[in-house]
Amino acid sequence: MKLKIFSGSAHPDLAENIARRIESPLLEDVLGEATCMRFPDGEISIKVQTDVRGSDVFIVQPTCPPVNDHLMELFILIDCLRRASAHRITAVIPYFGYARQDRKTEGRVPISAKLIANLITKAGVDRILTLDLHAGQIQGFFDIPVDHLYARKVLVKYFRSLGLEDIVVVSPDVGGIRMARAYASRLKAEFATVDKRRSGGSKVEAFNVIGNVEGKNVILIDDMIATGGSVAAAVELMKEKGAKKIYLGATHGIFCGNALERLSALPIEEVVVTNSVPPRDSYPPNFRVLSVAPLFADAILRIHKNRSVSALFHDDVEQE
Ligand code: R5P
Repeated sequence: MKLKIFSGSAHPDLAENIARRIESPLLEDVLGEATCMRFPDGEISIKVQTDVRGSDVFIVQPTCPPVNDHLMELFILIDCLRRASAHRITAVIPYFGYARQDRKTEGRVPISAKLIANLITKAGVDRILTLDLHAGQIQGFFDIPVDHLYARKVLVKYFRSLGLEDIVVVSPDVGGIRMARAYASRLKAEFATVDKRRSGGSKVEAFNVIGNVEGKNVILIDDMIATGGSVAAAVELMKEKGAKKIYLGATHGIFCGNALERLSALPIEEVVVTNSVPPRDSYPPNFRVLSVAPLFADAILRIHKNRSVSALFHDDVEQE
């Protein structure tokens, strides 16, 4: 069966990088051609130029801002490829938007993450390949197979290369404990967490730190940075509690509003994110973007050849 990779307009660079890595072992072109345009009234118009009949198709589309447009494009691309007789369609969603609305936190609010999972499935996709979902249980919102990758494979390698000593990995909130613990055990570091409350979209208060950060090099680990509010509150508290140097690692660098300015004004040595969403044209000098293209290329090849995806993490075996 032929393998074909398509991209919506969200992150064509990532799709191309993934495709190039897959082409050498397969010795064939895998990047499919599709045109995403707009009708005069704003509706999305898609035309796929590559024949996909009987193919194993992967659509790379993070649902990053503008979230709704990218989601709609994904639905339409899936529909288009399904009607073009693709044998199997996998939605490759390096960043899954709406993930933070994953439960009812009060009366009369939606569970948007579940709704989005239903819509993607209903569009006609067979499988999902994604990266660091905000909450692992979102996998269960889909009744189709979900392969869930971890960017820690990439980030841990980078933080190891810095040769830091006396590290404490800190989660900026209790929801991130599992993720930060996984980093701590792989970096052979201590672990701490912040007790945080969000009082508005970007207003966050950090009340206390559970664990010891005094005189230590802190690596703050989060799944995403949106407004930077969570990180700003945590960094302030870390400094108050006597932390030495502070590094920040996050899978999804969304950086909305004035997040970049906000973060660059903080006493952080380095902000390290991945290219799960398209990187900006420029960043402040202490920002670094690591590529997850090799990780996705490996996973896609494994799915295509019916080989284990979890084996990708065998060198990373400690349990959370
Ligand atoms: C919260 O539960 C998440 O893990 C992130 O900490 C949060 O969503 C980041 O958003 P912001 O940068 O706006 O604080």
